[in-house]
Amino acid sequence: MSQQTVNGDAFENLLREERRFPPSPDFAAAANVHEDIYAAAEDRTAFWADQARTRLTWSKDFEETLDWSDAPFAKWFVGGKVNAAYNALDRHVENGLGDRVAIHFEGEPGDTETITYADLTERVKRAANAFESLGVQEGDRVAVYLPMIPEAVVTMLACARIGAVHSVVFGGFSADALRSRIDDAEAKLVVTADGTYRRGKPSSLKPAVDDALAEPGHTVEHVVVVRRNGQDIAWTEGRDLHWTELLDAASPEHTAVGHDSEHPLFILYTSGTTGKPKGILHTTGGYLTQTAYTHSVVFDLKPESDVYWCTADIGWVTGHSYITYAPLINGATQVMYEGTPDSPHQGRWWEIVEKYKVSILYTAPTAIRTMMKWGSDIPAKYDLSSIRLLGSVGEPINPEAWMWYREVIGGSGGKAEPAPIVDTWWQTETGAIMIAPLPGVTATKPGSAQVPIPGIAVDVVDESGNSVPNGHGGFLVIREPWPAMLRTIWGDPERYKDTYWSRFDGMYFAGDGAKKDDDGDIWLLGRVDDVMNVSGHRLSTTEIESALVSHEWVAEAAVVGAADPTTGQAVVAFVILRGEAEIPDGEDASAALRAHVGKEIGPIAKPKHVLVVPELPKTRSGKIMRRLLKDVAEGRDPGDATTLADPSVMQQIAADLRK
Ligand code: WTA
Repeated sequence: MSQQTVNGDAFENLLREERRFPPSPDFAAAANVHEDIYAAAEDRTAFWADQARTRLTWSKDFEETLDWSDAPFAKWFVGGKVNAAYNALDRHVENGLGDRVAIHFEGEPGDTETITYADLTERVKRAANAFESLGVQEGDRVAVYLPMIPEAVVTMLACARIGAVHSVVFGGFSADALRSRIDDAEAKLVVTADGTYRRGKPSSLKPAVDDALAEPGHTVEHVVVVRRNGQDIAWTEGRDLHWTELLDAASPEHTAVGHDSEHPLFILYTSGTTGKPKGILHTTGGYLTQTAYTHSVVFDLKPESDVYWCTADIGWVTGHSYITYAPLINGATQVMYEGTPDSPHQGRWWEIVEKYKVSILYTAPTAIRTMMKWGSDIPAKYDLSSIRLLGSVGEPINPEAWMWYREVIGGSGGKAEPAPIVDTWWQTETGAIMIAPLPGVTATKPGSAQVPIPGIAVDVVDESGNSVPNGHGGFLVIREPWPAMLRTIWGDPERYKDTYWSRFDGMYFAGDGAKKDDDGDIWLLGRVDDVMNVSGHRLSTTEIESALVSHEWVAEAAVVGAADPTTGQAVVAFVILRGEAEIPDGEDASAALRAHVGKEIGPIAKPKHVLVVPELPKTRSGKIMRRLLKDVAEGRDPGDATTLADPSVMQQIAADLRK
């Protein structure tokens, strides 16, 4: 049963989840932290101050841990100065770790690159000099539209080094989406690549940048282009520059200066409940502290011996926090993979785990369910005995997928004790993990993210904001400010207050439904707003509806996220065509509209189904009843339709669907 639906039945089943997996005595004994960390974190401010000072090297110590006087606008580690790139790179080299591998890069076609901390430091210094030579200064914004290649990490860290604010745009977003993000942040520079590889074929990125910048009126002065797949690309003289030429010409020496703890580090756009994506702003000191801390305690990272692999794309927050920043700050060795899990065969991931002896794997439930579908015999062909910890993020993980992950991946090779699983709940806005078991401390439960990490105050409240007792459900909130919290929505502080701080007095509203079980453990039950979660990617129903309505054939559109066994949710669109729509003979309206959404927003937003309907179910006041559409999209009988202005509409739609 899907956990996406916040309904009683699903939860009743979960409540009967009796399985518990306490840490093995060996794991517990060697773990980075123990039970006493919870008590140590009770004095929250002192705890975070201590984390900030032990995890990071500050060029100037801070004077005040938290300034919440202008709530909900937080300032953490006030007066401190810190450089993210220095912490991720230079200090390790200074400590004699220059030869340690920072990144094992595995390209989709099979090319590889081993990059040590010394190499990465030099590349970032060169890139920092190169960007400065292009006039990029502290506070300027840089848009990054790159595939999963080391240059993505180099670019982000070079920006951080000079205090420029990066805004990474996922490569699966369209030219239009890229342009709106460039405009919103007023980016001065764009860093991109000719393209990448997808399922064995070259795929392009640069043409989208050219399209995005075709219309005048933008703020971009230069486009730096990494050559990845060598395809032919258009070139705008004067504006476009070659990455290699620029870096080769730049000096390998660059001194990192400390930036204010509250200096903006990056903007990352995420779907909201209205059409316009929100530019989530993260700053430096607090973000780095909490990402580094969680990466160490939740993944039990041993930097000298672990090989860590997070399969996320750099275009999402998981790639920011748990590829670019935390692992490098913690001096880890990580794997970075460019391509898809089934290229050239469905065992590619496991081949990579075997090859690099990956010990910590962090991925998403949608990937786990896909691998499950492909069959256990595929991972069984590889030696996965190096794996000692597994992480999950992005959406609720159903207990069946959790058990498969534990037994088939974590228990592979006949291990006496399968690797512990950490299900981590967090968001673009929270910047770092907020709810997760601690391996070595918590007895894990399949399907539940369980407990707030030490230092974080999470609760589940009812409509009026009262904490619910165990065994009950409601809305997930965060009661106290936390170091990695978003600071605002770029250019829109009012929207920041409205979206997150107005629903419940003095509490951060996450937009997720949740329940507490009889032990007080937290179960995440999916979004309670108009945000869908497809393969762990956030998509806004309103944004897709607007894209559909922008097509000349469409009069009206309603989009719902319907439960899907692999992707968690799937986008299903219901559209009413205009009477005068002239659809050419032989043209499939649904296919054309799917493609249109792909062009407007990006392939990830393409609806799985577009259903052309004669009417949409509306209340007498004209509100579209999405709940009923969700029922039909999920194959249920739409229940009570009596509040509809025209109760026969649903019968018509259901009849159409059956055809
Ligand atoms: C969902 C991804 C259940 C949730 C880091 C949240 C989860 C949204 C989990 C944020 C989890 C993330 N269990 N649901 N372990 N992790 N979510 O901003 O709905 O891309 O609000 O950040 O994903 O998605 P975002």
